[in-house]
Amino acid sequence: MDSLIIRQPRSSDKEDIVAVYESRGFFDYSPSRPDLKVIVATVDAYFTELVSDPASIILYVAELEYRLAGFAIARKGARATWEVQSGVHFDHRKQGIGHVLLAALFEEMYKRGPAACKATVHAGNVASIKMVSRFFREHGEFTGLPGFLQFTTSW
Ligand SMILES: CC(C)(COP(=O)(O)OP(=O)(O)OC[C@H]1O[C@@H](n2cnc3c(N)ncnc32)[C@H](O)[C@@H]1OP(=O)(O)O)[C@@H](O)C(=O)NCCC(=O)NCCS
Repeated sequence: MDSLIIRQPRSSDKEDIVAVYESRGFFDYSPSRPDLKVIVATVDAYFTELVSDPASIILYVAELEYRLAGFAIARKGARATWEVQSGVHFDHRKQGIGHVLLAALFEEMYKRGPAACKATVHAGNVASIKMVSRFFREHGEFTGLPGFLQFTTSW
């Protein structure tokens, strides 16, 4: 994939990130399906956080042939634990973009120093499980949400 670029986001990417969230099947394995207003507010909040608290957030986007194809985000919460999420537009899935985005995210998290990291994934979300498995050392049932697994690692 010669034309795949992983880069930091620009304000003008907001709509395209929302479009990834809105693409087919995005919320199939989520506990709830937020409406458009909530998705827009969520993406706005990411961009606000990038300015107000840059040490606690990492956001990358994948650009394929000059079009935004996906994103990956890590946000640092309690006890220096990063929480990771990634999404690829339905039209561009199964081309390795999710893996490349997560690799970039982990490289940056490692650079930022010792920490733990977790990802919560539905047990039926095979694509996501395959994508995250390479990066996390352990996983187990997530007691907080029936049917979900929690992947964890630290460095
Ligand atoms: C999860 C998601 C980001 C993966 O993105 P992607 O670019 O398609 O992932 P990749 O192409 O890098 O594939 C990752 C692995 O999953 C496999 N895979 C991808 N889609 C699959 C599918 N529908 N069924 C089974 N396996 C699948 C790939 O073959 C690859 O496996 P490998 O590691 O053995 O080579 C994408 O499916 C998505 O956006 N899903 C909706 C949102 C979501 O569930 N996010 C995850 C929350 S962390």
